[in-house]
Amino acid sequence: MSTADETATAAASGAAATERFHHDKSPYDAVKDTPKERVDLLARAVLDAIHETIRKHEVTYDEYNALKAWLIQVGADGEWPLFLDVWVEHVVEDVATADRQGSKGSIEGPYYVPDAPERGADADLPMRDGEQGTPLLWEGGITSTDGTPLAGTVELWHADADGYYSQFAPGIPEWNLRGTFTTGPDGKFRIRTIQPAPYQIPTDGACGRLISAAGWHAWRPAHLHVKVSAPGHEQLIAQLYFPGDPHNDDDIASAVKPELILSPVVQDDGSARIDYGFALDRRED
Ligand SMILES: [Fe+2]
Repeated sequence: MSTADETATAAASGAAATERFHHDKSPYDAVKDTPKERVDLLARAVLDAIHETIRKHEVTYDEYNALKAWLIQVGADGEWPLFLDVWVEHVVEDVATADRQGSKGSIEGPYYVPDAPERGADADLPMRDGEQGTPLLWEGGITSTDGTPLAGTVELWHADADGYYSQFAPGIPEWNLRGTFTTGPDGKFRIRTIQPAPYQIPTDGACGRLISAAGWHAWRPAHLHVKVSAPGHEQLIAQLYFPGDPHNDDDIASAVKPELILSPVVQDDGSARIDYGFALDRRED
């Protein structure tokens, strides 16, 4: 058992995710020209849906007060990024990418960190000496939807064999299992890493309290996270999954799509080889 197993907490992970979100994005800037009518429309629609739920299911004052306490606790635990990315983002992603012709995407989730170390086109993902987990060789390429190879980048991040992410769980080196791979004009990349483990989202905070109270499970299937970029093309954010994972069918984050399940081939030495590339939609400017 790793140090992270013994000391990872929802509050620490949530605080890191909340701080990271504030640090990396300017969410208000991107919508600063949104008309009042649009804000009014969306805010009313959400409130109407809440009101309808209360009327339909005859929500009591005790339940209302428990909800109020729980919402306060989500913020106190820093778990708004976790809550939103697990239970809401997948629908935003579906809507945002509905017109795409290229590779399927999936949610980003709360554990991305920008500017991971640059590794070139053919390299190991940064990892500890003796990193646990089945070795994985991943060969693939980036193309446009018409098949033209693209010089671009694949940012890759994933959990370790205990299901923990560097920079969100303690005891793991800063950039462990995070890297940026830059392809040449042929678009090809070759990455060596390890197969991540399935993991439960933190269960000791407010999100865990909801999961427990509702009788849900907290599992995400094992997955690789990627952000794929090339000039003149839409950025693709995706997660890639492994066949046979018991949680591919009931992912708590509802982020699995059939097109995102890999077909690893087990090699004689016990390692696995995967062949998976990305086709990016041309950006319409
Ligand atoms: Fe993840």
